Amino acid sequence: QDRMKALGKADAEPIRHLHVIGAGVMGGDIAAWAALRGITVTLQDLAPERIAPAIKRAAELYTKRLKLPHLVQAAMDRLIPDVAGHGVAKADIVLEAIVENAEVKRKLFAQIEPRMKEDAILASNTSSIPLQELTSVLKRPERLVGLHFFNPVAQMMLVEIVQGPQTAASVMLAGQAFAKQIDKLPLPCKSAPGFLVNRVLSPYLAEAMLMVDEGIPPETVDAAAKDFGMPMGPIELADMVGLDVGWAVGQELAKPDNPIPQKLKQLVEAKKFGKKTGEGFYKWVKGKPQKSS
Ligand code: NAI
Repeated sequence: QDRMKALGKADAEPIRHLHVIGAGVMGGDIAAWAALRGITVTLQDLAPERIAPAIKRAAELYTKRLKLPHLVQAAMDRLIPDVAGHGVAKADIVLEAIVENAEVKRKLFAQIEPRMKEDAILASNTSSIPLQELTSVLKRPERLVGLHFFNPVAQMMLVEIVQGPQTAASVMLAGQAFAKQIDKLPLPCKSAPGFLVNRVLSPYLAEAMLMVDEGIPPETVDAAAKDFGMPMGPIELADMVGLDVGWAVGQELAKPDNPIPQKLKQLVEAKKFGKKTGEGFYKWVKGKPQKSS
């Protein structure tokens, strides 16, 4: 059955198999979430050693959410490490969550598109790259859609469903149906730099980092934002997102005369990317921010 046609209708087939490429902060957690919600997921990474920690995080999530051992086991069985990428040829959706670099993503798309099922959807979790920058290598650009999840995936309801100039309407509907299938809230939006959320979030994070450059401690900036009602301060959030990712997003979105946060630049150059490397603006111990570094 041709999913591209069928998905425009209410009785569209649910997604059964998701293949995720990139087992980092986002890819690993999206894979874990989809498997929790009943989908068979294959998980691939260029660096195979990234897969095991993602599976471990999934096991922790399932133990917390499902409690009963046989349900935990069933969810674990649905989440399949796939170093060789066999899942590309079988999946209903192939979603990339690799490094935030248009050239690298295009190279990956050129390799995988010929192997995908005829009616499969190609999705990108890019935070900031307009989809039109990724389509030049595709034979069927109408099947590329942005499925932009937020960090931490298990807690953030929203998924931006991003429509590039060539994305088919049926693929947009399929993206929305998929988000609902896994109990997320789809927000359809057009492909413009930063889409909707990051267009607002990125200048907010940048201003917070510029305040740190001005000598205000990260703790003070974060405490003020929390007092204002934010669930987490902007500096802690940047560390959690990953400063390398934040840097790449900033490069995409910054206007030419925007000042560059210098402390951020130093940390990225020192490969101190935040929570995932154990140090960023804060030192991180057991997944919690400690004193600022
Ligand atoms: P990450 O650095 O934690 O993970 C990226 C993974 O992709 C790494 O494990 C790396 O080995 C792998 N990889 C790199 N090139 C590859 C290739 N050619 N083939 C297969 N695997 C490859 O990055 P993170 O944070 O998970 O970001 C991934 C994507 O998700 C980026 O596009 C980013 O903009 C986006 N994103 C990130 C968010 C965040 O909060 N970190 C939020 C929403 C989207």
